[in-house]
Amino acid sequence: MSEQQAVERKGTWRLKDGVNRIWRIGRPMAGIPTVDDYRLEEASVPQPGEGQLLIRNIYIAIAPGIRPIMPYAGFEPEVSNQPSKGRVDASDDEILMSHMTVGDRMRSGMVPSMSPHTGGNVGRVIESRHPGFKAGDYVFGGRFWQDFEVVDGDATLRVDPEDLPIEANLGMVGLSAFTGWVGYRRFCEAKPGETMVISAAAGAVGMMVIQMAKAEGLQVIGIASGAEKCRFVTEELGADACIDRLTADVGAELDRLAPKGIDIYFDNVAGNLMTPVFDRLKPFGRLIVCGMAAEYNGFEQSSISTGMILGKRLRIQGFVVTDYESENDAFRADVSKMWREGKITYKHHMYNGLESAPDALAASLSGAYAGGKIIVQVSEDDSKA
Ligand SMILES: NC(=O)c1ccc[n+]([C@@H]2O[C@H](COP(=O)([O-])OP(=O)(O)OC[C@H]3O[C@@H](n4cnc5c(N)ncnc54)[C@H](OP(=O)(O)O)[C@@H]3O)[C@@H](O)[C@H]2O)c1
Repeated sequence: MSEQQAVERKGTWRLKDGVNRIWRIGRPMAGIPTVDDYRLEEASVPQPGEGQLLIRNIYIAIAPGIRPIMPYAGFEPEVSNQPSKGRVDASDDEILMSHMTVGDRMRSGMVPSMSPHTGGNVGRVIESRHPGFKAGDYVFGGRFWQDFEVVDGDATLRVDPEDLPIEANLGMVGLSAFTGWVGYRRFCEAKPGETMVISAAAGAVGMMVIQMAKAEGLQVIGIASGAEKCRFVTEELGADACIDRLTADVGAELDRLAPKGIDIYFDNVAGNLMTPVFDRLKPFGRLIVCGMAAEYNGFEQSSISTGMILGKRLRIQGFVVTDYESENDAFRADVSKMWREGKITYKHHMYNGLESAPDALAASLSGAYAGGKIIVQVSEDDSKA
């Protein structure tokens, strides 16, 4: 793997003795949350109970998908992922309804902790009261924006720094990359020579999908913001082209790059990009609805033509990655192998210091960063010492 890191140096990762800093939701938020919408509390370091571990967080994953479960001020966009009628099953409802309110600890992973694959942080065990772990182990399992955290051992995975760099558990083999892997393998039904468009192409999901599609011989057109991300998408991820959504007429560019139309739209953003891409799907085309990042802030809303779905016999597939948890081991094995063979690139955009977490989430929600998986480093990574 050619693993890369862009580092935003916005803070430090110096911990204070005996102090646990915790970001909490400060108030309902309009648009993209800013640092003033949270409050940073200092508490004492918690004690683990039976079956639990005390961990020092090292890396925290940042993803735009957390925004729909944060409280909105005023207008509330239709992005909460909740089926208004019709249940998927009871456990899904429990995950999807777990919204945050003012005063709650800010999350990086899923709460309640449904499984070991839905954490948001990588850290090091300080004290274990679970037979499967010991002090010094590196683990994937924290779920909150804080220095120290008590986690349930049963909802935590031990990670091996000899196998992959520990932060890869949030990036290359993390939940977003798994989402791309599941979405591509399960739903795209891609055939060599077909044309796929992918939005948020330089992001954590997009990086994985592009490389899988190129390995199978598709024509891949990314959409991203800015020249730097577009260069990354074409030159390093291998897409055939990348449209800069901030400067280009997306529809006209698609007509130029794919004059016969598009077979698959792997959509991470919805919003204003939906119409120009959806309208260019070919008969029997597929729209894979992975995310709605353009709508999470309440600025944009998408709609699609029912007549076109019928007339062109289109297939529209939404999915929620947690439904495919049983495939996580296969995913990790597949991607680790590609990494060892040097067949995959995965970039991290690293922010330094717990203080920078609000800025990191704002960047993820606006796209204003250089691409890659956004991660906040909150303490020393001694696995690299
Ligand atoms: N279905 C599932 O189970 C599942 C699981 C995990 C994640 N997701 C979703 O998958 C999507 C991608 O996740 P990720 O972690 O890889 O995020 P990401 O790509 O790292 O970040 C989101 C990106 O969306 C783009 N964006 C933001 N506002 C936009 C706008 N107004 N118009 C167009 N693009 C805009 C930005 O990219 P550019 O500025 O480069 O365009 C931004 O970087 C998200 O919507 C996420 O919620 C779904």
